[in-house]
Amino acid sequence: MRGWSRPTRWVPFVSLMAVIYLLMLLFAHFGDGISPLQMLPQRTRLKSDYDYPHEGESATVKKFTLILNSSLYDAMEIEDVLTNDTIATFGERLHADVDYSAPPKLILSWDAGHGQENLGGCPDWNCVFTYDRSKADEASIILTVSDNFERRNSEQIVTFYSQESPKNMPVIMHQTEYFNVSLGYRHDTAGASPYGYTVKLAKRRPLEKIVNLSRLAGKSKSAAWFVSHCTTNSRREDLVVKMKKYISVDIYGNCLNGMNCPRGAKCEDMLDDDYHFYLAFENSVCTDYITEKVWNQGYGRDIVPIVLKRSIVANRLPPNSYLAVDDFETLQELAERMSYLMKNKSAYSEMFHWRRDYATIYLNGEQHDILERPWGFCQLCRIAWEKPKTQRLISDFKEWWDGSCEVDGATVSKIISKTDAREKEKEKALRVNRITVK
Ligand SMILES: *[C@@H]1O[C@H](CO)[C@@H](O)[C@H](O)[C@H]1NC(C)=O
Ligand SMILES: *[C@@H]1O[C@H](CO)[C@@H](O)[C@H](O)[C@H]1NC(C)=O
Ligand SMILES: *[C@@H]1O[C@H](CO)[C@@H](O)[C@H](O)[C@H]1NC(C)=O
Ligand SMILES: *[C@@H]1O[C@H](CO)[C@@H](O)[C@H](O)[C@H]1NC(C)=O
Ligand SMILES: *[C@@H]1O[C@H](CO)[C@@H](O)[C@H](O)[C@H]1NC(C)=O
Repeated sequence: MRGWSRPTRWVPFVSLMAVIYLLMLLFAHFGDGISPLQMLPQRTRLKSDYDYPHEGESATVKKFTLILNSSLYDAMEIEDVLTNDTIATFGERLHADVDYSAPPKLILSWDAGHGQENLGGCPDWNCVFTYDRSKADEASIILTVSDNFERRNSEQIVTFYSQESPKNMPVIMHQTEYFNVSLGYRHDTAGASPYGYTVKLAKRRPLEKIVNLSRLAGKSKSAAWFVSHCTTNSRREDLVVKMKKYISVDIYGNCLNGMNCPRGAKCEDMLDDDYHFYLAFENSVCTDYITEKVWNQGYGRDIVPIVLKRSIVANRLPPNSYLAVDDFETLQELAERMSYLMKNKSAYSEMFHWRRDYATIYLNGEQHDILERPWGFCQLCRIAWEKPKTQRLISDFKEWWDGSCEVDGATVSKIISKTDAREKEKEKALRVNRITVK
């Protein structure tokens, strides 16, 4: 869960950003004449219609390539993003039909927080953020968390906002056909704003430059779990208790007598140095709900994340980069796979080979730069400029939202009951054996 997702938590941050922004404007005005809005494109090169001779492709295939140059990552040439939505191609996401002679498009936050800095990935796209409700008539995009806003005209794109899963963010709606798009972690909407994403790189990278094989070989511990919420909809806590019967899991945090290692502290380096696996279990199992557990603590480290359910992450995470609990019939089998990978160092290191062709990008919600261009606010800005306007509607919002999660604990109870059944079979076989021996 992102701590800042409730609108009010933004207030100090937004105010600070506003002050910084004003200061920058002032400096720009009295300084060397470079406006803050021009600074980002200087660090960023966008190439379109880039000719790439790919294996099995003719050299004339036109590709959009984003040369990413964020201070958070080394520059990389990106050919595509991993998603299975059919809403916009990567190339389309990177270009807006901006009319610079027209007044900027207005994005009005009715009751959802945020600020102009959220458009930091596309300062060149002529969109302006406002809280001013008196501008509702002119606004192209309206952000809201309920259906209290009354649409002024049918061109307006009314946008639902939530970065929390439906289990953590119940929504009361009076209309089923209301929201046009959603700004949140779901991929199947034009405003998709995931916690992180996977990119396909334009050029393969040499393995030795991106993975420290000797560090992988030096690991000795099994799995680590960092936890702060002890009772969850996914029942991950029950799963971990049961897993511990078959494989060692070290727990850090407030639950189940966890050990101490605060977020962001030096001790987290043990994820790189000691542990083979990171339990990236979400508090709820919902469509596309993949949080910083995977993107930051998982892929941000030299470790293999374990997720609960493959279908949630398929085509979002790099291929062969993780284990999914529901790939296994029982916890014995999961534990066997983990033990095998710990013993066979070359099989384990193969789980890092994806880094040659893919990279994962964590959006920390604080730095707003080119990394965010294909997502969220920038995409809202893009569709605000779209001509002619595509009609968009999340039909049956309640089903779309509330219906996107599994029944509480479904994945976990399934594997636990199979595991228990297997135990019973074994005991029975043993008893029969003893009787026959007698
Ligand atoms: C990326 O940006 C940094 C400054 O943030 C700059 O020093 C570097 O030259 C840039 N690299 C490219 C390839 O643009
Ligand atoms: C690789 O990891 C080992 C062991 O952690 C460390 O001593 C070494 O400095 C690392 N090498 C590089 C190039 O980072
Ligand atoms: C792709 O998206 C559709 C919904 O848009 C979903 O039903 C399907 O499971 C997704 N497939 C994968 C592999 O993510
Ligand atoms: C270890 O893993 C490698 C790569 O997957 C495989 O080729 C090899 O057969 C495995 N060795 C054993 C002893 O299982
Ligand atoms: C947004 O949704 C409403 C229905 O709730 C619809 O009348 C309107 O045409 C849609 N607007 C766009 C731009 O898709």
